[in-house]
Amino acid sequence: MPDGKLKNEIRIFRGNAHPKQAEQVCKYLDVPLGECDVDRFPDGEIKVRIKEDIRGRDVFILQPTSPPVNDHLMELLVLIDAARRASASRVTAVIPYYGYARQDRKHEGRVPITAKLVANLIATAGADRVLCMDLHATQIQGFFDIPVDHLYAWPVLLDHVKEMGLDNLTILSPDPGRIKLANRFAQKLDGNLAVIDKRRTGDSEVEKGHVVGDIKGRTVVIVDDMISTAGSITQAVHTAMEFGAKDVIAMCTHPVFCGRAFERLNGLPRPRTRRLRHHRAEETPRKHHPRPVERDGGARGSDPPHPPQRVHFQDVRRLGARAPAGAAHGMEGREPRWSRN
Ligand code: R5P
Repeated sequence: MPDGKLKNEIRIFRGNAHPKQAEQVCKYLDVPLGECDVDRFPDGEIKVRIKEDIRGRDVFILQPTSPPVNDHLMELLVLIDAARRASASRVTAVIPYYGYARQDRKHEGRVPITAKLVANLIATAGADRVLCMDLHATQIQGFFDIPVDHLYAWPVLLDHVKEMGLDNLTILSPDPGRIKLANRFAQKLDGNLAVIDKRRTGDSEVEKGHVVGDIKGRTVVIVDDMISTAGSITQAVHTAMEFGAKDVIAMCTHPVFCGRAFERLNGLPRPRTRRLRHHRAEETPRKHHPRPVERDGGARGSDPPHPPQRVHFQDVRRLGARAPAGAAHGMEGREPRWSRN
């Protein structure tokens, strides 16, 4: 919690990506949200006006680059430029979800490295530093020529699993890239480790994989950095069920939920508890919201291969509200968490 002097010096502004998140951050810090208009010109160009004096202030601009990613990224850049030109002493881009991160290397000829391009854009716009959470690959920190504070969400997710009081656990990595994280969970929860040899067949399609490790009759916890089209996570859930898991819990840090995500998630067996429906309320067009989930009917969508099995969802944003104050703070730089699959 900032003291009086700090409160006087920092200013927090937001774009349109996640107003509620900005509201919660300001409430937690007991700092008023900075006054700023982020609108559009008639031709669609972004129009920003900071409506207070920020000369010499320590400015934080909160804007995840969630869908529509290009709009939110451009808003972030324009906000940074406005703050820089208004003579802020320091501008920090707070980007809880860093989009464009999955194109982080040339995996074939004639493709860009957008994770680096976006890092360049943010620094060129005038950011002095970046604060982000669970980058798709930790090495993306090195794509920035400015300091990056990289926070990790795993303590929040881990606490939640502990609170559920489960035993006979297997932590399942949905692809080889998450093994390190899954291994951490397995150690902390005294569980086994398993991994799926995920194979992508397209940007949003994933082939059924094989499981390496023991999951038969066990409660399986799947941990991933993000759910985008939900191809990976639902395929991991189905694979876990086919390999005989008793219960399946799926967790992620970034519920991006685009494309066929809700259709796929709603097609999974009915959960015993489900916390999906309020997620992304601000960012997702209404028609993409999942159907209500309280009813006691059978499974929705395709029939579950093993009816007694259950699937639970949780993501860190929901958990964050219940997490001990500062649970995800101060984790920066402690150890690498994610690596690219
Ligand atoms: C892959 O490397 C990531 O960790 C996620 O598993 C993946 O990006 C999620 O994408 P989708 O939900 O579209 O399968």
